[in-house]
Amino acid sequence: MASPEADPDLVYRHPRSGEASHDRRDPVGEARETFVEPALAALGRVPPGLRILEIGFGRGLNTAAALRALAGAGARRVLALGLEPGHPALEAPWPPAPPELAPWAPWWGRARGAWRLERDGLRARGCILGERAGSALARSGASFDLVFLDLFSPGRHPEDWDPGLEALLAARCRPGAVLTTYCCARRLREALAAAGWRVERRRRRGRKDALRAVLEGPLESPGRGFIMRRRDGSRPCP
Ligand SMILES: C[S@@+](CC[C@H](N)C(=O)[O-])C[C@H]1O[C@@H](n2cnc3c(N)ncnc32)[C@H](O)[C@@H]1O
Repeated sequence: MASPEADPDLVYRHPRSGEASHDRRDPVGEARETFVEPALAALGRVPPGLRILEIGFGRGLNTAAALRALAGAGARRVLALGLEPGHPALEAPWPPAPPELAPWAPWWGRARGAWRLERDGLRARGCILGERAGSALARSGASFDLVFLDLFSPGRHPEDWDPGLEALLAARCRPGAVLTTYCCARRLREALAAAGWRVERRRRRGRKDALRAVLEGPLESPGRGFIMRRRDGSRPCP
């Protein structure tokens, strides 16, 4: 349900098109209902050491909502990678975090870097990389369980959608991994299906349709952790 007192500053806009980063009426509800709840419902049992990937991390509302929900579901260990090449709004002082998510967003106010969280029995650690999804995933050895795909819309911002992203995601997720996104564009649905994702368009009363996809088939490159290295050999992620 939309909350009339939702803080509009949480939402930032695409510098060219003016498109909003979230539903202005209820950004936290959108994170929960569009991204997190359908993903956890399809995931079923939470695997130990669950790995989350958020593409278009921004302020990380989806990851924060996921950590909160996972702790409530009894998860013990979570790794989370956020990919965010940068946006002017993230370089300015951030507005206060929404109260229900503040304890679950230790990165709040920082556009990138590593973070850790221990709360309600959950031990989580993660990293926000200032990099585009295409290049980061191309050199990652990771194997993700949950993907929140939260880029600005492909119709108006095709330059944000790296070519082959859907297949790269299939290669970097374990079978049974769940991807959620607000975006129902036909070209995204077709590219996901072609890459081995079982795609479901979720019709919702009072909200726009949303997408959920579950990865079928074998992993192309099973991985461990995030395993990424800079050119100098150092590791930007835990
Ligand atoms: C809709 S906003 C994401 C909102 C965010 N999830 C939050 O909780 O605040 C889309 C974001 O995707 C980022 N972005 C643009 N191109 C990208 C790419 N190729 N890979 C990853 N992120 C990208 C933008 O900088 C922007 O911050």
